[in-house]
Amino acid sequence: MAGALKIGFSSYAAPDKGVLIVFAGPDLKFGPETRKLLAPAADLVARAAAADGFKGKSGSGLDLIAPAGLKVGRLIVIGVGAGEDEKSPKPKDMVKIGGGAFGRAPTSAAEVAIVAELPDGPLSADQAADLALGAMLRSYSFDRYKTKKKDGDDTPKQRRLTIGTAAPDKARKAFGAREAIAEGVMMARDLVNEPANILFPEEFAKRASTLRKAGCQVEILGEKELTRLKMNALLGVGQGSVRESRVVIMRWNGGKKGAKPLAFIGKGVTFDTGGISIKPAAGMEDMKGDMAGAACVVGLMHALASRKAKVNAIGAIGLVENMPDGNAQRPGDIVTSMSGQTIEIINTDAEGRLVLADVLWYVGKTYKLEFMVDLATLTGAIIVSLGHEYAGLFSNNDKLAERLVEAGKLSGERLWRMPLGPEYDKQIDSKFADMKNTGGRMGGAITAAQFLQRFVEKTPWAHLDIAGTGMGSPQSDINKSWGSGFGVRLLDRLVADSYEK
Ligand code: BES
Ligand code: MN
Ligand code: ZN
Repeated sequence: MAGALKIGFSSYAAPDKGVLIVFAGPDLKFGPETRKLLAPAADLVARAAAADGFKGKSGSGLDLIAPAGLKVGRLIVIGVGAGEDEKSPKPKDMVKIGGGAFGRAPTSAAEVAIVAELPDGPLSADQAADLALGAMLRSYSFDRYKTKKKDGDDTPKQRRLTIGTAAPDKARKAFGAREAIAEGVMMARDLVNEPANILFPEEFAKRASTLRKAGCQVEILGEKELTRLKMNALLGVGQGSVRESRVVIMRWNGGKKGAKPLAFIGKGVTFDTGGISIKPAAGMEDMKGDMAGAACVVGLMHALASRKAKVNAIGAIGLVENMPDGNAQRPGDIVTSMSGQTIEIINTDAEGRLVLADVLWYVGKTYKLEFMVDLATLTGAIIVSLGHEYAGLFSNNDKLAERLVEAGKLSGERLWRMPLGPEYDKQIDSKFADMKNTGGRMGGAITAAQFLQRFVEKTPWAHLDIAGTGMGSPQSDINKSWGSGFGVRLLDRLVADSYEK
C-alpha cells in the first residue's frame, strides 16, 4: 500500500549498507561514476560476471553477496543492453528500468541505493526522478486484508530507496510531480483492489471527497438530486441495489481563469453482477473492479491537484451497484435518459453505457469544455479485440485521438484506435425506443462506443475501453497489483504535454 517506500536523492557515493544497484552495458561497460564506485571490487565483479556468463544484456542481472571491497551487503548489476545509438533507437524508459531494478532487490532489504547512470553516462535529473517513480510503482502491494505474515516473509515495514545522481537537488525537485502521479496511481489501484462490500457508491464518494485536501472542489450528488436531474438511465442500473447511487464532480482550477476545462469521466460500477441478466459465477469476483474508470479519474485528479497542474480539470464519476433484486431493472424496460432520449434495456449487464450516458450528457451540458475523455471497463469484447496490452480508443476528434495515442506511447499505457461510424447504428436501433442498450455479439466494443456517442454533442470526445487493462492485466516491472491504475499516467501525460503549455 502507499507509503511503505521512502525515496531520497544523494550525490554519487558508495553506501555503507544495504543493497547497491548499478547498470551495465555489453562487455561489462559501466558509466564513469559507477566505475569509480566499484573500483575496490572491480576484479571481483569482472570474475563474477565471467563465471555467471553475464553480458549486460537488457533484462539480465548479476547478484553479488557481501562483495569484498564494498561495504554493502549485496551488489546487483543490471544489464541495460546497448546504448541508444546502437541497437535500440528508442530512448530508454527509465520508469520501467527503475521498477525492474528495484524489483531485483530482495523485499527484505530495508535500504536500497540505485546509481542513476547508464554505461553512456549519467542520467538527467528527470531520468533519475523517473527511476524513483518506477521503483515507487513497483513497491505497491495491496495487503490491507492480510492479517498473517507468510512464513519467512521478513519485509520491513518501511523501506528506503536512495538514488545517487549528479544533481540531487534538481532530481528531488523533478520527483515532486512524479510523486504526485505515483500517489494518484496507487490511489486508483487501492480503489480497484478494494472489495465491493467495503467500497460501495457512498463509500467511494467519501474517498473521492478526500481530494479536497489536495485542493479540489468536490460535489456529491445523491439520489434526490439525480432524480431531479432526470438521470434515469443511471438510476435504473442502481435500483436493484440496497446501496444508493452517487455522482461525484471533482474540480481542479489550476489554469487560467476562464480557460476551458478538460473533463474526465469514469464508469464506477462498484460491483457488476449483471443484474437480472446475471453473469455466470466463474470469475464474477473480478467485477469488484468494474469501477476502474472512476478510480482512474480520482487518481488523476489527485495527481493534477497535488502537482498543481496549470490546467482547469473536471472529474465526474457515476457510482452504482448492479444487482439482481425484486426491484431491479428488467430486460424490456424502457428508461428516459437525462438527454430525453429513450433506451430499451435488452440486457441489464450492459449497464456501464447507461451510467455513462447520463454523466456524459450532464457534463457536456453543464460546462463549456476543451474535451471530454471517458474511461470505462465497458465490454468483454475489447478484451477479445486487443487482449490486455492495449486499451481501446474511440473518438469523434482526430487531434484528440492522436494526442492520446502519443501520450500512450510515452507513458507505456498504450491505446489502439478503433472505429466509429453510422454503419454501426442499426445494431442499436430499437423496435420500441430511440435505441437499445446492446448491439449483439459482433463489434461489441464498437456498438457500445457508438451508444455513448449519442450522448455527446459537439464536444471533442474520446472513450477509452479499459476492460482489459484496468485490472487483471499481466504484471510488469512497474506493477505487481491486480488493479493497475491504468490511465492515470497516460492522462497526466496528455495534460502535461498538450494542455499546460
Ligand atoms: N463490466 C462488464 C465488462 C467487463 C467484462 C469488464 C470483463 C471487465 C472484464 C460490462 O458491464 C459487461 O457486462 N458488458 C457486457 C455487455 C454485453 C451484455 C452487451 C459484455 O461485455 O459481455
Ligand atoms: Mn455488465
Ligand atoms: Zn460492467
